This record gives sequence, structure tokens and C-alpha cells, in this order.
Amino acid sequence: MTRNGFLKAAAASAVALGTAGGASLLGGSPARAARPPEGGPLYPLYIPPTTSPQSLSLTEAPAVVDIGGGQSQVWAYNDSFPGPSIVASRGDQASIHLVNGLQQETITHWHGMIVDEANDGGPFRTIPPGGTYDYSFTINQRGCLNFYHPHPHELTGEQVNLGLAGAFIVRDDVEAGLGLPSGAREVPLLIRDATLDSAGNLSYKPRSGGFDGQIPLVNGTRRPFYVVGGDLYRFRVVNGANARIFGLTLSTGAPFTLIGNDGGFLETQSDLTRIDIAPGERLDLLVSFAGYQYEWVALRDARSNWDLLNFPVFSPGTGSVPTLALPSIPKLSNPVTTRTFSFDGMSKINGKEFDPNRIDFRVPFGTTELWRFTTGGNAPHPVHVHGASFQVQSRTGGRGTVFPWERGWKDTVLLEDRETVDVLIRFDGFRGRYVIHCHKLEHEDMGMMSAFEVY
Ligand code: C2O
Ligand code: CU
Ligand code: CU
Repeated sequence: MTRNGFLKAAAASAVALGTAGGASLLGGSPARAARPPEGGPLYPLYIPPTTSPQSLSLTEAPAVVDIGGGQSQVWAYNDSFPGPSIVASRGDQASIHLVNGLQQETITHWHGMIVDEANDGGPFRTIPPGGTYDYSFTINQRGCLNFYHPHPHELTGEQVNLGLAGAFIVRDDVEAGLGLPSGAREVPLLIRDATLDSAGNLSYKPRSGGFDGQIPLVNGTRRPFYVVGGDLYRFRVVNGANARIFGLTLSTGAPFTLIGNDGGFLETQSDLTRIDIAPGERLDLLVSFAGYQYEWVALRDARSNWDLLNFPVFSPGTGSVPTLALPSIPKLSNPVTTRTFSFDGMSKINGKEFDPNRIDFRVPFGTTELWRFTTGGNAPHPVHVHGASFQVQSRTGGRGTVFPWERGWKDTVLLEDRETVDVLIRFDGFRGRYVIHCHKLEHEDMGMMSAFEVY
């Protein structure tokens, strides 16, 4: 195909493709594609504006946005779906003014940020409609990709599903020294599923087994495309779905180079043709498009057989994936206490539903503990802890292994049926109240959450 023909095909796809198209990207098998995928128009991937956390005002409110091909009613931070990408450097002071423009209570949590109880934005700190909340904290943790979203008890699923979530990127000197792709070649990807009503508005239909949307959205865009050169790209991936796990693959069958996850860089990079990511988890991926000029490459979900994001590759480029000198990670060891958390049914941890007025256990500050996550059924349960990161030690039963994307520092880990996952954790940030919960938001809202106090 000539450059001209490729450009025309790409341009046509943004308007109306109808049933045109050659090599289908459907079917789950690796393919090289000279034409865009079938099935209708594609829309440009939305890239949220970036903002600093200094003197930031964030308003949660209903908004009308273009998710591709028309106007949709959503709930958004500052009218952006997803919300603005907050980009900070280690050592920065965050001062964020939250305004509740919804007709129900809310509060915003900075998932992955190690902050004190007053700034954690957990369910103890909700504000009423019209209310405000002022956050002030110092960012003191490794460079990483975190994300922010509402966290009011019993309403988190609805508020996140209707559009309230955004990326929170922390940069540091280690990252700066690695010379990774930046600008348009560092792309935040908030991946989720959604259901639209007949008017094209986001529609939340909770199921106790977890919200199950009909279409994927990446950065709030349906059937998105993102034009790339044949160079190296860095994708900062958040699973922002309420309940869906994605099995990420590339349509070419080529691997991703995994360099980081929830808590920043891993110690070693690994090439993986498929990575499973559960709600709340993050990935830092390098992909080279060298060798695919004038072809279409898709990011896919192997679980549902969805194309998530389409990449027309315009220019040749030479961007091979470098071998990086990634930082070593100090290992937690010698736990003094073991605690077991059984994720029971769809609403309980250790037989109890969440009660914000009850402290279920107390954890000494600065002490390494072994936490054992197990399930009494109704998995998957993505287990998330506030206030500290942890290191996964083992998984027994079920999938029976610790995956490369579960090394390093994690704050969310997937528990499938019959699995027991052991992690080491130490709270050396702050004393105060935090929560552990299932990040399948329907389970969380039904009570699969437990409050504890670091003392
Ligand atoms: Cu992403 Cu407690 O939440
Ligand atoms: Cu969190
Ligand atoms: Cu669960």
C-alpha cells in the first residue's frame, strides 16, 4: 500500500468505514493489517489535559462529552472524561480543592498515593452535594502511575462508572535518567468497559457479580485510534473498569516490554505477549512499532476478543526497545504477624460487611506483616489496600504462580477462585485509619471492605 492510500484509508476510518476493509482484526489470531478494522468509524483517542496538583481545583459534576460520534451525558472531573491527568514530581506539594457538583455525597481518593488519613479520601471523609474538601499533602514516593476516583461507601461503583476517574502520574529522578519516550510517545491509557443507553449516555446497571459493560472505552473514547510512528512508545495503563479484567495482547502477536506496575519500575523488564490486568492495577509498557509502516496494529483484550485501541503506523522509524538499567527494590522480609483476609461471597471480608464506625484490626506502624488473601467464592476479587504498598510473595491454588507484572511494589492484586495470595506489607508512611477492599466496585459497595487503624 502506498503512503497516499494508507492516509486515505486512515482518514476514511475517522468518518465512516461501513463494511469496507480487508484483513479483519477480529478472531483473536495474530495478523498484519493494511487496512483499519471493520465495523464502523474509528474516533481519535482522547488525551486528557495535564495539570499540576498545586492549586488544583477539581469539580465532580454532570457533563456532556464526545465519546466518539456524538454527545453523551457523563459525570466528569472538570468536564473532562477521564479527568485531567495530574502530573507531579516527587517532593511536590499537592493542594487540591474538591467541589461536589453531584446530587449525592462523594469524596475523591488518590489510589496508590501514600498519604495520611485526612488526605486519603477514603469513605470516612465524604462530603455532601455542594460540599468541598481541601487536600494538602507532600508527594513522597517512587515515580509511578496512580489514579484518582470517588470513594463514597455504596456509591463508588456508580460514580466511577459514569465517568469519574483520572490518572495521577508521579515523576522522579530515576525515571528522568532512563530517557524513556515522552510527549506524544508517552500515552496514558485508562481502559474500561461501559454501557450506553439508547440516547448514547453512559448508563450504570450494577450486577452483584460486577458491572458488565457492552463496549470498551479507552480514555473515554469508543473505537479509538492513535496515530503512531514506527518508534518506541510508552503506554501508562490503568484498568479503570468497575469489574472487568482485561487480557492485553497486540494484534501482531508481538510482546509488550513490561517495565513497571502499580508502585513504579520493576527491577527487570520482561517481554510478554499477554498481560492480565484487574480493576485498580496499573502497567508501564514499552512497545516498538518499527517494521509496521502503513499497517494497523491493535491493542486487544483476549478475554472478550475486543479491539481496545487501533494504531495506524505512519512512518518507518527505528525505535527498538532498549535494555534499561532499572532500579533495585529493597525486599520486605521477616514478618512478625500473619493476618488472613477471607473474601467471602460478594459483600464480606472475614464474614463481615463494612461499617465505617468499626475498626476491624489495628496494625503497628513500621512493622512488616504477612497478609494472606483467600476467597470463599465469587471471585475474581482484586484486593486493594490503602496507606501502603505490598510485595507479593506467593500464590497457591488457582493459577498457582506470581506473574511478572505482580513483582515489585503493588497496591492491588488479583485473587481468582481457589487462590491464596500472600503479601508482605509495612505501613511506614502514616498512622491513621485506612481500608482494605475488593476493587470490584460492586463488591466494595455491597460491603467487601474492612477498616483498620495503623497505630
Ligand atoms: Cu481505587 Cu480504595 O480504591
Ligand atoms: Cu486506594
Ligand atoms: Cu470481590
